[in-house]
Amino acid sequence: MKTSLNQIVIIKPDDWHLHLRDGEIMKAVLPSSYRWSRRAIVMPNLVPPVLTSKDACSYLTRIKACIEKTVDFDPLLTLYLTEETNAKDVVLAFREKIIKAVKFYPAGATTNSHNGVKKIKKIYPVLSAMSEEGIPLLIHGEVTDPSVDIFDREAVFIEKILAPIRLEYPDLNIVMEHITTKQSVDYILSENSRLAATITPHHLILNRNAIFEGGIRPHYYCLPVLKREVHRQALINVAIKGHKKFFLGTDSAPHLDKVKIDACGCAGIFNSPYALEILTQFFDNHNALENLEKFTSINGANFYKLPHNKEKISLIKSDKSFHMPEALETSEGPITLFNPKMQVFWQIVN
Ligand code: NCD
Ligand code: ZN
Repeated sequence: MKTSLNQIVIIKPDDWHLHLRDGEIMKAVLPSSYRWSRRAIVMPNLVPPVLTSKDACSYLTRIKACIEKTVDFDPLLTLYLTEETNAKDVVLAFREKIIKAVKFYPAGATTNSHNGVKKIKKIYPVLSAMSEEGIPLLIHGEVTDPSVDIFDREAVFIEKILAPIRLEYPDLNIVMEHITTKQSVDYILSENSRLAATITPHHLILNRNAIFEGGIRPHYYCLPVLKREVHRQALINVAIKGHKKFFLGTDSAPHLDKVKIDACGCAGIFNSPYALEILTQFFDNHNALENLEKFTSINGANFYKLPHNKEKISLIKSDKSFHMPEALETSEGPITLFNPKMQVFWQIVN
């Protein structure tokens, strides 16, 4: 990595948590990712979800068909864990290099998660096989019990679900996806190297006030929902230090504006288009540019035991902040981009 006052060159990042969707939307959003990232862990919560090695194979073919031949971008697929998931199929998909990990959604926790897990013990045989095979488990860590306050669901998940899983399968590699709380940061720091976490740009940059500023702001609604400032500070503290257990997962989750701006708008923030510029500015604002590369390009690869990317990417800081477009136009309608509500001076050099 090279940094000077107004230029930085880092290993090309990876996005360890991404929603690429399918069909026309996928075609429209994919370039926003491969513009700045070399690999991405692709979430399986399509409708219908990516349940089997066969589904993953077919999704991989569809993704690759949307990527121009000249572009180097590796989609790393995941399977959607259900109570019916077949352990042998998971192992086969992993050995054949069709998938890199398995995603666990508690049923009803987030967008397209109704096929997720209800009775945790039912997935234990699959977790056992994954542990033996070294297949990472990626977790959406929120309980779904409606009697638990939505802002407490992540903390309760650690105690009720995650800690027992870790006790039962101490060798299982686990990524807590898109963590949002101090409790998660503290728990991950207190555990061994088999447990790590992704952090999104929006949870680093905003707290929950953003959702209610002057009215209800659907484009700042995501799951897990933005939290109080004290939690944001805990995330910032580990991210800007480049702590090895924490790495970038944008959780870029595009939804057409027409389904977000609704009496029951769906959860998800579309941040992939300028994620790197925004993060660079954020690290700069915290005088932590020297740790940007660890967060975006090194820690995640190390956890997944993958080589660091050979490609580099360079950004320069200009005198003027740049103007981000408000939305990405698709054939099905616009998708509003994440607005970080801060000036961004860093730009990628092509
Ligand atoms: C994601 C989506 O839209 O698929 N939404 C979100 O708010 N993050 C699902 C998820 O990752 O929870
Ligand atoms: Zn997600």
